[in-house]
Formats: sequence, C-alpha cells, structure tokens
Amino acid sequence: MSKVEKIKHYWKKRDDAREYLKWILGYTKPYIPQLSLLMGFDILATLLTVGMALIGKQMIDKATGGNISELWTIIALYVLVIFSSQALSIISNLISVVVYEKFGFGIRKHVYRRILDTTWLDIAKYHTGDLMTRLTSDVGAVSDGIAHTIPTVLRLIVELLVTFFTLAYYDFRLALFALMVAPIAMIASIWLGRKLKYLTVKVQQTESKYRSFMQESLANILIEKSFCLEDYSEDRLTKLRDERIYWVFKKNRTNMYASAAMGLSFQLGYVVAFSWGAICIANKVITYGTMTVFLQLVNRIQAPIINLAQMVPKLISMLASAGRIIEIQELPKEEYTDNRITPENIGVKVTNVSFGYTDELVLDNASIEFKPGEFTAIVGKSGIGKTTLVRLIMAFTKNMQGKITFYNQNGESMDASPDARDFIAYVPQGNTLFSGTIRENILMGKKDATEEELMEAVRSSAAEDFIKELPNGIDTVIGEKGVGISEGQAQRIAIARALIRKAPFLILDEATSSLDESTELRVLEGVRKWSPAPTCLLITHRRSVLQYCDREIQIVDKKMREAI
Ligand SMILES: Nc1ncnc2c1ncn2[C@@H]1O[C@H](COP(=O)(O)OP(=O)(O)OP(=O)(O)O)[C@@H](O)[C@H]1O
Ligand SMILES: [Mg+2]
Repeated sequence: MSKVEKIKHYWKKRDDAREYLKWILGYTKPYIPQLSLLMGFDILATLLTVGMALIGKQMIDKATGGNISELWTIIALYVLVIFSSQALSIISNLISVVVYEKFGFGIRKHVYRRILDTTWLDIAKYHTGDLMTRLTSDVGAVSDGIAHTIPTVLRLIVELLVTFFTLAYYDFRLALFALMVAPIAMIASIWLGRKLKYLTVKVQQTESKYRSFMQESLANILIEKSFCLEDYSEDRLTKLRDERIYWVFKKNRTNMYASAAMGLSFQLGYVVAFSWGAICIANKVITYGTMTVFLQLVNRIQAPIINLAQMVPKLISMLASAGRIIEIQELPKEEYTDNRITPENIGVKVTNVSFGYTDELVLDNASIEFKPGEFTAIVGKSGIGKTTLVRLIMAFTKNMQGKITFYNQNGESMDASPDARDFIAYVPQGNTLFSGTIRENILMGKKDATEEELMEAVRSSAAEDFIKELPNGIDTVIGEKGVGISEGQAQRIAIARALIRKAPFLILDEATSSLDESTELRVLEGVRKWSPAPTCLLITHRRSVLQYCDREIQIVDKKMREAI
C-alpha cells in the first residue's frame, strides 16, 4: 500500500467508525430514558463508593481520637451506605437486562425485516449460516455494548473524575501520582484497538463459516450418510473449529498482554502512593484516616482507568459487529411502485431483456409476449435460463436491461416489480414446503381461505387422495423441507398453495417433475380447469405436458423463440 493509500484507508476507517457509531445511536434513541436511569443509578453507586472511603476515614480518625459515641453513628451510616449501594446495583442490573433484551430484539427484528426486504439475488449470495451469525452473535455484541459497555464507560469516567477531585482535595500530588497509569493505559488501548478490530472481524468470520457448515451439514444428513461422509464431516468441523480457536486465542492473547501491562502499572502506582503516604505519616503530615482515604482512593482512581482500557476491546467488538450488520442493511432494497393495475386477464411483455448473474449473459436481448389466458410451455436445455426468466418476471433482481411489463385487457400496464407479485402465483423448482401442517402450508397462499377453497385447491392439485389417507388428513404435520411425505406429494401441496391464491398469473417451474405421468396429467387438467382461468407459464422437460399448452417457447442462444 502506498503512503497516500494508507492515509486514505485510515480516514475511511475513521469515517466507518463514525458511521457505525451514528447507526448505533440511531437505534439507541427509544431506550434513552431507561439508559439515562441506568447511568443515573450507576453514578449514584459511584458516589456512594467514594462516600464509603470518606466514612472510612472518619471512622479511623474517630477511633484513633477515642471518640466512641460518634463512632457508632458513623458505623451505622457505613452499613446504610453498603445496603444502598447493593440495592442500587440490583436495580441497575435489572434495568440493564431489560434494555439488553429489548434493544437486542428491536435491532434483530429490524435486520430480519431488512433481509426479507432485500432483493433476493443480493441476499441469496450470503450463506444462511452467515446471516444467522449476524442476526444472533453480532446483534448480541451490539446490544451488549449499548446495555452494558457504554453505560459502564460513562460511569467509569464519572468515577474517575469524582475520585480524582476528592483525592486532589486531600493531596494534589498524590492524585497526579495515581494518574500515572493513565498514559500507559491509553497507549495500550490505542495499540490494542487497531489489532482488535481486525481480530474481532476474523473471529466473527470464522464463526460464520463454522455455523454455516453445521447448518448445512445438519440439513443434509441423508447425503452425508449416503456417501459415508460422517468422518469427513467431523474432520471438517474440527478444522473449522481449530481455525476459530486460532483467532479467538489470538484475540484473547492480545487482550491479556494489554491487561498484564496495565496490571503492572497499577501495582507500581499503588506502591508509589503507599510509600508516599507512609512517608507523610512518618513526618506527621497526615493522619492515619487520611492515609486510608489515600489508599482506597488511589485504588479507585486506577481501577476505572484500567477498566476503561478494558472496555476498549468491547467497544471495538461492538463497532466491528455493527459494521457486519450495516453491510446487510446497505444491500439494495426492493422498490415498490404505486402503479397497480386491475389484476384480471394479465399478460406479460418481455422486451429486449439482457441479464447475467456475472459478466456472462444468460439472456441477451430476448423478447417475448405471454398473452392473457394463454398457457405457454417454456422448454430448453438444463441451465439455459428458464428459471432465470421467471426470476426476472418476479422482479427478484433489479440488475436487468430491457423491460418487462404486465398489462390487462383494460389497457392498464405496469413494470415488473415486487408489487406485481400480488397477482402472481409461483411454484418454484425444488422442495419449498415449511415445517408445519399441510393446511398451514397451503394457507400461506391465502391466509383467510375458507375450508371449501382449501378443498377445491387440494382437489385440483390431485392431492386429495393421498391427504385423505394420512392419519391426520390435512392437519398432518410435515417436517423441515417436507420430511414425512414424498417428493411428488410435496409438489402437489406446493401447487395447491399456488392455486388457492386464485392469481391471474401462474408460474409452474418444473412443478410436476416428480409425478408419474397419469398424476401429472390429472394435476394439469385441474390447473387448466381452475377458475378464474390464469395466464400460465409452464416450464417443463416433458413432451407429454405440451398437450395442455397453447404454445411452446424455446430458449436458444440466450433468446426466446416459438418452437416450430
Ligand atoms: N444465483 C445464481 N448465481 C449465478 N449463476 C446462476 C445463478 N442461478 C443460475 N445461474 C446460472 O444461470 C444459468 C441459467 O440458470 P437457470 O436456473 O435459469 O437454468 P434453467 O434453464 O432453469 O435450468 P434447469 O432446467 O436445470 O432448471 C446457468 O448457467 C446457471 O449456472
Ligand atoms: Mg430451472
């Protein structure tokens, strides 16, 4: 890196930190009353501890002066202060638990919603394990920072100031001695800060990798068993764990070095204060009582400095985690338009569309029209771009050139956008069921559907017979990814889920590929008779399906054309 680049990099990092901090403060706003209360209690607790030191001095001075009667009052006061400070600490802990939970959930809900609102293609680039790590451990680090670290930092600063001035009141030079530890702590935290940010990001990245692996492995146990991959998977887990341990160890080692350096300077500061106090007593400059205040306050002036330095890694972890969450929040959001058309007799015009996931185009200047009410079969080799065309019609990505327009017979039209999904029913390729009952899965198509509508959809998707035979019928619980039913049965449930929407535009992407020919034909008959009759795109590899379609489109050479 050249010098100029280094400077630019440095400023960018500073800007990042400022941006992250602003982002955190934005989320903190609703919790300001609770946080203020929390800090108020903490500061009160600090004042009480300083008060305790002063009461201690009084006790010793009264005791050495032989003043027993006043001594009892002071002891009573001492006990009262101890009780009050305990009560304060309980209350402030409870508030901080509530803030931590509420703040964590608030941020998590927001990020979760943001993930749902991000354009599909952009969010699909992240592994679900990675997203989970960001939603759980990164959000946790930020909430911990808000509920614990920041209030602690503020309390420590107040503690430092109050103790310093109290000590300075008794002996200014001693107060300065006690601050001796500050520059060492500061140097340690700056050095530590730079290193720690890098190490924290590394730790979170390895955590993401580790979680992603576990999640994927657990979801594919069948494959691991089939290919006898148990030992291999365990080894991979161990390797990922080792990688994580390596970075966690490095991060903690950095923390330890800094703590050791600060601990040492702390001890030195204490020895200096102790010796200084002893000399003053020998010279009869101070009382024994003042000596105890010295020792207690020196302790209390150094402790916040060292604790502050120890907060630095936590603050850095918080900022690094905030950065990882912000990265997700900065992904492009789906854009809704207010332009809605009456969802009846919908047609679609694809005009000069070019799109590629990378620089390599999948569709190049492709055009086609799907007229209202038409059933169109889309055929073509595997990997040619059939599903990609559907993704563009569904507006799952914005990075497309050309135009896709929906229109109706009243002459209204709108561009492909997330709004258009309101009148599209889509059966994607592969198993797309959720865990839960069959009923719950189908009702995802239309949450307020009646029992009659439900049965109608089940009948038309040729799912009625097998559902009847299940012990709990439509209320049978199926597992993750449709475990408990067959692939073809899952496909029929997915078709019922789409049909129940009664959408004017229906897309079936190899939706019947696992069915035997006669069942497939029953399903297609059901779809053709479905009322109101939708416009339908049917992606298929099977010729037998074509008899149910009005026309056949092929994708060849990145373009669409009528099959001859
Ligand atoms: N998310 C993605 N990122 C990058 N490339 C992709 C992605 N999805 C698909 N592709 C690529 O785009 C091309 C078209 O894929 P698409 O899924 O549209 O094919 P398809 O015609 O539906 O195939 P199939 O009949 O096998 O389902 C393929 O070369 C594929 O490798
Ligand atoms: Mg496909």
